Amino acid sequence: MELGISGKRVLVTGGTRGLGRAAVLALARGGARVVTCHRGAGAAADDLSRELKELGDRHHVVRADVTAKDDVERLAGVCEDVFGGLDIVVNNVGVAGEAPVDELSADEWNRVLGANLTAHFLVTQAALPLLSEGGAVINVGASAALRGRPATAHYTASKAALIGLTRSLAKELGPRGIRVNTIAPGVIDKGGGLGPPPHMKERLAGMTALGRLGTTDDVVGAMLFFVSDLSRYITGTTLNVDGGI
Ligand SMILES: NC(=O)c1ccc[n+]([C@@H]2O[C@H](COP(=O)([O-])OP(=O)(O)OC[C@H]3O[C@@H](n4cnc5c(N)ncnc54)[C@H](OP(=O)(O)O)[C@@H]3O)[C@@H](O)[C@H]2O)c1
Repeated sequence: MELGISGKRVLVTGGTRGLGRAAVLALARGGARVVTCHRGAGAAADDLSRELKELGDRHHVVRADVTAKDDVERLAGVCEDVFGGLDIVVNNVGVAGEAPVDELSADEWNRVLGANLTAHFLVTQAALPLLSEGGAVINVGASAALRGRPATAHYTASKAALIGLTRSLAKELGPRGIRVNTIAPGVIDKGGGLGPPPHMKERLAGMTALGRLGTTDDVVGAMLFFVSDLSRYITGTTLNVDGGI
């Protein structure tokens, strides 16, 4: 089946590691043109650039902090320069956080809200002039958003707020032909020791209806669906990719 991804111009935030990296590579292999960004120094960005180079000369890895408006504007400028516009924005950047509420500092609250919510707003706003009819914004949230967990008030609040942001933007941008949806992963084992600690895996897998943790491919499948034309009549929704927790 033709997904209609080939040739699409896609911005994926936070594409050098984890789910973002898997999404960038799947999109590039599917024929999309991708700009992605990362914040930190380190080998991950160089590794991704090398891997993308093997897939063609039309992908770009940019160092930009999506919680900083100036960086976001520069990132949008790169998308305009290299692609002349955008078809898809994947707001993937997000950070975890754990602190009991009586020890949760305002700085830590702002760090988590900044990466998990404000960044999605800043990037979407900066990308809007580049998106035209048929465009789509995909936010990456978390299925924990509507359940809650102890010692993660800031994380849960940020991911729940993303659902509201998605609903409102879908209504506001629908008349311009732009769809906005959220993908909400559950507990994902990213491989290479980048999942939950071994002693918790069995218990967490047991909480899912499907009896296993998610994989990066499980989440990327949902992203490709929202990037593709198969989701052309879907907007404002939050799709849990959590095995039925
Ligand atoms: N993994 C899970 O089990 C899980 C579950 C539910 C939801 N999610 C959500 O899925 C998304 C991806 O999670 P992940 O686990 O794949 O993340 P990850 O492995 O920690 O990777 C995060 C990526 O984002 C980049 N990044 C972080 N902060 C940034 C910033 N301010 N500006 C630009 N780039 C930034 C990182 O680059 P640097 O290394 O350079 O900072 C990295 O490329 C997040 O929204 C997360 O909340 C994940």
